[in-house]
Amino acid sequence: MVIDAPTEADAAERLDRLTDLATPFAVRTVVTLRVPDRIAAGVTRLDELAEACDADAAALGRLLRYLSHRGVFVEEPPDVFELTDVGELLCDRDGGGHGAHLDLGGLGARMDRAWAGLPHAIRTGGPGYGAVHGHDFWADLDRHPDDRAYFDALMLSQQRFTAPQVASLYPWHEVGHVVDVGGGSGGLLREVLGAHRHLRGTLVDRNEPVATAARTFAEHGLADRTEVVVGDFFAPLPAGADVYVVSRALTDWSDAHATTILRRCAEAAGDTGRVLVVEVLPTVPHVPHLSSYDLQMLVLVGGRERGVTEHAALAAAAGLTPRRTYHGEDGLTLMEFGAGG
Ligand SMILES: C[S@@+](CC[C@H](N)C(=O)[O-])C[C@H]1O[C@@H](n2cnc3c(N)ncnc32)[C@H](O)[C@@H]1O
Repeated sequence: MVIDAPTEADAAERLDRLTDLATPFAVRTVVTLRVPDRIAAGVTRLDELAEACDADAAALGRLLRYLSHRGVFVEEPPDVFELTDVGELLCDRDGGGHGAHLDLGGLGARMDRAWAGLPHAIRTGGPGYGAVHGHDFWADLDRHPDDRAYFDALMLSQQRFTAPQVASLYPWHEVGHVVDVGGGSGGLLREVLGAHRHLRGTLVDRNEPVATAARTFAEHGLADRTEVVVGDFFAPLPAGADVYVVSRALTDWSDAHATTILRRCAEAAGDTGRVLVVEVLPTVPHVPHLSSYDLQMLVLVGGRERGVTEHAALAAAAGLTPRRTYHGEDGLTLMEFGAGG
């Protein structure tokens, strides 16, 4: 069999596929107009969909046909649209759901638009988000409570995977008081304290997530074993606890910033306390250069992905020494550090 050499036209086509913006925006537009939700609810005729979306029927038809050729909808008979399995995913508006992320009115779209700041991020080695939106990511969340609530719900949906493993992998019977540094809206602490009834917990984070965490702890009968602190993990942390958990927060920061966070934990932990770094480490298929996650961390927040060795280097720079490591599922890793050599 003779295989033709790739032609210049092939290369141009592959380049088109790499750079096309029509399809990503077409998908986001049907989500923003809630077309998939309406079809799922039984509104399948083009004229009815246009009315429900307050859209121009002819323009909407062009959009839906474009996406029918890309596997999102099926048009059968003419002017009647159904969802494919891909289209069904667009109806999911829960915390981590595709529909919530792709809606052009939400935080997902603000995060996506930060990609326009990638040249700035590559030139400076810092985040590009502020160059696009005028404020850095965390300050922007402070300014937009709805976005903050969405972000916290997203983190909570990921904590459903991490928290039960953290609760079961670490020897919590050795611990009396744990501080969750940058603990978000408290999903991890809730799980750990729920599973280990002798534990006391303190959560440190920014204003909004701390308020959510306080409500969550009260709702789960944990108010008397928890304390919430509006704080800054670049400043001194509540001292004297047995374990300082830093869960999926170092990835948001440059090496210099991440080292400072660990140094603050080390200072608060003193000679006897421990620092427990929880991360989902790069594993297949979530590997730098194969997934976009590492670049996304850079452009959004100036962060980066790291493996065990890189975390140990950060910890060493913060005056900490590796103690024990616990491996969970799909790359979830608990790296325990302690004072001195
Ligand atoms: C990626 S989230 C991780 C949340 C949670 N630990 C988890 O495992 O899902 C990072 C958290 O760091 C918090 N954060 C960002 N800057 C902070 C600061 N300067 N001081 C304290 N917390 C901060 C954010 O508000 C957010 O809740």
